[in-house]
Amino acid sequence: PWDSPIGSDFGDDREPLHERTESGHTVESFQLQQSTDVGPQQALDKQKSLTYFNCLALVMGLQVGSGIFSSPGTVDHNAGSIGSAIIVWAVAGVLAWTGACSYTELGSTIPLNGSSQAYLNYVFGSLAGFLFAWAALMVLKPGSAAIIALVFGEYVVKMCIGTDTPAPFWAVTLAALGGLAFVTGLNCFSTKSSTRAGNGFLVLKLGLLLLIFIVGIVGVAKKETRSAQISENWFNGASTKLGNYAVALIAGVWAYDGWDNVNYVTSEMKNFRRDLPRVIHTAMPVVIFCYLLVNLAYFMVLDKEEVRSTQTVAVLLAGRVMGRAGEIIVSLLIALSCLGALNATTFTAGRLAYASAQEGHLPKLFSRLSARNTPIYCILMECTLAAVFIFFGGFESLVMFYGVSSYLFYFVTVASVLVLRFREPELDRPYKTFLTTPIIFCSVALFLISYGFFEKPRQALLSLLFIGSGIPVYFLRHYGYMGVSEPRA
Ligand code: ARG
Repeated sequence: PWDSPIGSDFGDDREPLHERTESGHTVESFQLQQSTDVGPQQALDKQKSLTYFNCLALVMGLQVGSGIFSSPGTVDHNAGSIGSAIIVWAVAGVLAWTGACSYTELGSTIPLNGSSQAYLNYVFGSLAGFLFAWAALMVLKPGSAAIIALVFGEYVVKMCIGTDTPAPFWAVTLAALGGLAFVTGLNCFSTKSSTRAGNGFLVLKLGLLLLIFIVGIVGVAKKETRSAQISENWFNGASTKLGNYAVALIAGVWAYDGWDNVNYVTSEMKNFRRDLPRVIHTAMPVVIFCYLLVNLAYFMVLDKEEVRSTQTVAVLLAGRVMGRAGEIIVSLLIALSCLGALNATTFTAGRLAYASAQEGHLPKLFSRLSARNTPIYCILMECTLAAVFIFFGGFESLVMFYGVSSYLFYFVTVASVLVLRFREPELDRPYKTFLTTPIIFCSVALFLISYGFFEKPRQALLSLLFIGSGIPVYFLRHYGYMGVSEPRA
């Protein structure tokens, strides 16, 4: 794979990456490689400006979006009982954690920006890296941004008109576009402005999770409560169908999604060796713990049936305990939480596009930075695509495409941990996870992917076709008349 035209297009006579590796590649040589060979736009990976807390905000800021405030209904409906629902939440969290550990091993071994693009490129060759970039830049990143922006719009409108009337489509779309424009501006302006906002959003999100738990306790104290069901057998009515658990797990897994967000910016971290594992091992237990507490709060106050029948369970809880004022406050905070998630994903979408441009996958324009050193053209491209998806995407199909394709790439990327362990055991790995970790992740991911194909074969196949359509694009870009692929130096 290293004979690809990209490999020969560096404009210098350096050896292919993997040969260096086999002769004892170290993390430092990767970094040297990136900053000396990648071209004139070195500013991003040379800035090294991201602190531990910035990165924590990137991960937790994307994980805690709207999922924990909306999807408990789907989880509970499919799991069938409080106990099994809580178990699904715990399993989804541990699954995310195993994925994150595997990505941490890859990220500390191959400390480049771009996450899967860099890892697949290294392990399976340039085409594999390109296909990830293709799917992620064209659909996964802007599509998930559109989903988050639409949920943001929904909460903003509901905050204004109350939860009883359905929110008009145009108002939701308008609010979603407004939120997207705000976050785009923040990210284009400077790295500092978006990371500072990210830090603020993280504090707010933690406050919101705590608030909901407290509201639950207050509800119990005010006897606004169905706590009788808490003392019932927690497994009464638990589902016995595997398919139900797959759906419940998919909803849970979405709420934890975003654990790979720091991997897009590894080469900008102040100290990735120390901080990359620290970020993941802080974010994951904290998020899992908070999600379990918040779920408990829902069940302490609301009836099982109520939890099941709503997509805005947190607002329902706040309304029950604190009236309309509670509804407004919690809707506002959830809207802000979505805005924070949008900020975190916009930040890394820009970084991915920039890394991709440096690989020669995108036109040269995209490897330019603004005067304040932000990948402004990349951010604008991703936000334009997100706006298109907000208008034309269709919520359901976006969610389905995201689910199948993101898990396909997670699966292949985590599998590459195993490939690399086997192929290059001597590689310098500042963080090494247990061998069982990627194996557990891959097995469950395979279960989820097969369920997707089994249940929605047409949409799942379309996702595959879309990813495959990147193959001709790759060859056109790197061999065809479109060009003369971009020299990297
Ligand atoms: N976990 C987030 C939420 O609950 C969604 C994250 C979407 N993932 C992504 N990579 N953009 O809303």
